[in-house]
Amino acid sequence: MAVATETKMITLTIDGQKVTVPQGTIIFEAIRTLGKTVPHYCYDRDLSIVASCRLCFVEIEKVPKLQPSCSTPVNEGMVVYTNSEKVLEARRMQMEFLLVQHPLDCPVCDQGGECKLQDYSLKHGTEDSRFRFEKRTYPKPDIGSLIDLERNRCILCSRCVRYMDEIAGSQELALVARGNDTYISTFMDEPLKNEFAGNTIDLCPVGALTSKVTRFRTRVWELRDKPSVCTLCSVGCNINLQYRNRTHEILRVVPRGKRSGELPVDM
Ligand code: SF4
Ligand code: SF4
Ligand code: FES
Repeated sequence: MAVATETKMITLTIDGQKVTVPQGTIIFEAIRTLGKTVPHYCYDRDLSIVASCRLCFVEIEKVPKLQPSCSTPVNEGMVVYTNSEKVLEARRMQMEFLLVQHPLDCPVCDQGGECKLQDYSLKHGTEDSRFRFEKRTYPKPDIGSLIDLERNRCILCSRCVRYMDEIAGSQELALVARGNDTYISTFMDEPLKNEFAGNTIDLCPVGALTSKVTRFRTRVWELRDKPSVCTLCSVGCNINLQYRNRTHEILRVVPRGKRSGELPVDM
């Protein structure tokens, strides 16, 4: 007979507020229970944790260095600060670092208006760049008729790679090379074949992976959501039909949750 074991609960303090969560919870999710979040790129609760973007840093009392909230479990009595001067400074530095090689493409980038790099740069970045050299550029591969890959805009968060590997079940995307030369690629630059590959468009926090079907047909601020249910199979996933405000023409179908604002990007 199976014996039910009680989950131990942990109480910690986040920005002066007490919160109680099950043991093993990461600080990032504990913060979420307070209805807020910290800036993040690589973390997604449905994917494995890599803690590579270093943007979700928090300060913990009695811990000398800032810790990534997405990979640090809670502890009894922990005192966490998400907006201390140390944290804000680390975020500024990390945003500057992410933008070192990033092109100034926003006016011609289809992600404009729903880009986490734009949002976080405005909120947490600096106004100027100290990088005065030529930016690194990569050739643009053709990865199929549905998805456009613009490598120069990739921030190497590996969400798309982990999604393809862990959920779609095919290792068709990879981060290739090392260090400053790392870039995102399909296997041998071949087109993506997996039928779930389109979800990477919604998972990519920037304009590196965009839809060839809808790109340049509208700007995201012209779109409105209409909740619906997908009818392509018997599962009936929740979707949002996105239509142009003025003409009511349906332009995009997106999963409800990810792109439709399940998580507040501001913080
Ligand atoms: S990915 Fe974001 S920040 Fe980069 S060019 Fe596109 S909209 Fe601008
Ligand atoms: S293509 Fe997008 S999701 Fe994939 S690693 Fe680059 S930024 Fe992340
Ligand atoms: S979200 Fe925590 S390190 Fe990227």
